[in-house]
Amino acid sequence: MLWVKSFHIVFVASWFAGLFYLPRIFVNLAMVPPESVAERERLLLMARKLMRFTTILAVPALALGLWLWLGYGIGRGAGNGWMHAKLVAVVLILGYHHACGLLLRRFVQGAQRRSHVWYRWFNEVPVILLVAVVVLVVVKPF
Ligand code: HEM
Repeated sequence: MLWVKSFHIVFVASWFAGLFYLPRIFVNLAMVPPESVAERERLLLMARKLMRFTTILAVPALALGLWLWLGYGIGRGAGNGWMHAKLVAVVLILGYHHACGLLLRRFVQGAQRRSHVWYRWFNEVPVILLVAVVVLVVVKPF
């Protein structure tokens, strides 16, 4: 079980590296002057590769978590409110991941209109979600 949990944490950390860095690229893309086509294409290429990589890393992160929960039964049954709250947070993280994909598609189509400030705030969301999940799973407050 400890091997499964170890790799669960490794893939969660890797997944979040992508969720932290992608919006950073969006901040830079939103600041690129329209005439800097080469810079825009370079950032778009980075974002597309990172989005693909981040999606691939999410799969083992989630699969190993499900294995801990459903396979080893950790957090199952009554009295495990922390696990239910964690799963709600995981759904929000998946929603954020999906939103990154939609925003990237808008950038590729040249249809995005938001300012770099909006993306800086958007970049803070995974920090809040990560803190919430780690506190829930380590402290198990309820
Ligand atoms: C389908 C999604 C997930 C499920 C079912 C799941 C389930 C679990 C379970 C059952 C444990 C073992 C808890 C224990 O031994 O006390 C665990 C550990 C952990 N999970 Fe997840 N997890 C999921 C996603 C995530 C995500 C998205 C994060 C981070 C944002 C995360 C962070 C952690 C951490 C840090 C631990 C280690 C806690 C410890 O050793 O005390 N998990 N997970």
